[in-house]
Amino acid sequence: MHNFLSDKTKIFLDLEEQFGAHNYHPLPVVLEKGEGVFLWDVDGKRYYDFLSGYSAVNQGHCHPKIIDSLIEQSKKLTLTSRAFHNNLLGEYERFITQYFGYDKVLPMNTGVEGGETAIKLARRWAYSKKGVAENQAKIIFAEGNFWGRTLAAISSSTDPSSYKGFGPFMPGFELVPYNDIIALEKALQDKNVAAFMVEPIQGEAGVVLPDEGYLTKVRALCIQYNVLFIADEIQTGLARTGKMLACDHENVRPDILILGKALSGGVLPVSAVLADDEIMMNIKPGEHGSTYGGNPLACAVAITALTVLKEEKMAENAELMGQLLREELAKLNSPFITTIRGKGLLNAIVIKHTNPDASWDLCLALKDLGLLAKPTHGDKIRFAPPLLITKEQILECVGMIEKALETL
Ligand SMILES: Cc1ncc(COP(=O)(O)O)c(C=O)c1O
Repeated sequence: MHNFLSDKTKIFLDLEEQFGAHNYHPLPVVLEKGEGVFLWDVDGKRYYDFLSGYSAVNQGHCHPKIIDSLIEQSKKLTLTSRAFHNNLLGEYERFITQYFGYDKVLPMNTGVEGGETAIKLARRWAYSKKGVAENQAKIIFAEGNFWGRTLAAISSSTDPSSYKGFGPFMPGFELVPYNDIIALEKALQDKNVAAFMVEPIQGEAGVVLPDEGYLTKVRALCIQYNVLFIADEIQTGLARTGKMLACDHENVRPDILILGKALSGGVLPVSAVLADDEIMMNIKPGEHGSTYGGNPLACAVAITALTVLKEEKMAENAELMGQLLREELAKLNSPFITTIRGKGLLNAIVIKHTNPDASWDLCLALKDLGLLAKPTHGDKIRFAPPLLITKEQILECVGMIEKALETL
């Protein structure tokens, strides 16, 4: 049953194969329409989306209010660059800083630019405020981190498929094991450390959750050693884990907060870095920016994307549906699932099978049954549907997962 591909599908796959760089290994499905929790392929087959564009589509595909904002604003003004002011930037800046409780925001586009921005802010703060000697600032990361594909981002990576063959790497980066407070404390004692940048839950590593209390301890240590706590909430943020931010589960406030992905509801690349004046005001005109960062189209879309998260109580639904999903998966008692883990609707299962391709095969079987998910790091499969999924839909999806497991 696997791998039946329609002639139409094959045409699109062949085009990408011939004319596109081979830097991805997608599931063989060609999508042309999305609405809410559903996607449709070029043959009209409907699927549940259990990836949500790596958590960019938390609000559901083509959310009508977000699309309305996009269309309305795109008819008026889309880009001015920051050489001039536009009438939406200030409004958006006030909205997002009040929403998350920070003095200032620095708008960017992709997630990785958000990470780069946070690190530049931390280095500048270390030189201007902490008294670190020029060019000596260090940033600490956790092993298993993922924050994108730029040269800086891969310089902190412990995944050879990210960094191998792309050196030389960015200096001033150091690693500690994730979820290891003792190792972190040792690293922070170095007076040149500017910041610890960490994902509250490691998404790309396969939804790796730290022990409860980890973020609280990180917060306390960063205060103790005068080091900035940078939270990369690009994947965990914006209601995905059952709270607006994953840090909210421990009532912890990072010094620098990075957001992306669902900040636009999957409509266009919008990222943001939030911090207070003591950090943000060390950057002066001309020292950082981006042509598209803070463009009026992005501002209009982001305001609506954030508004609908609260209006439609998506965090609350993610919390409830996530619990239901994990409970129902556990009930399957599958010998092939060794672990079910997650928070809210950011979940993963770990597959154990004599066939090393079992998780890929399982995703192909799920695709045939009408559910799209993708393995990460070989044996892990992320289950992260849009946050408006209902109880009935979760139960239907678990039924599909049960059937797919039978094919292994
Ligand atoms: C935690 C985290 N940070 C940063 C990024 C990079 O975002 P982008 O792909 O938009 O550059 C990702 C992307 O998956 C991510 O999961």
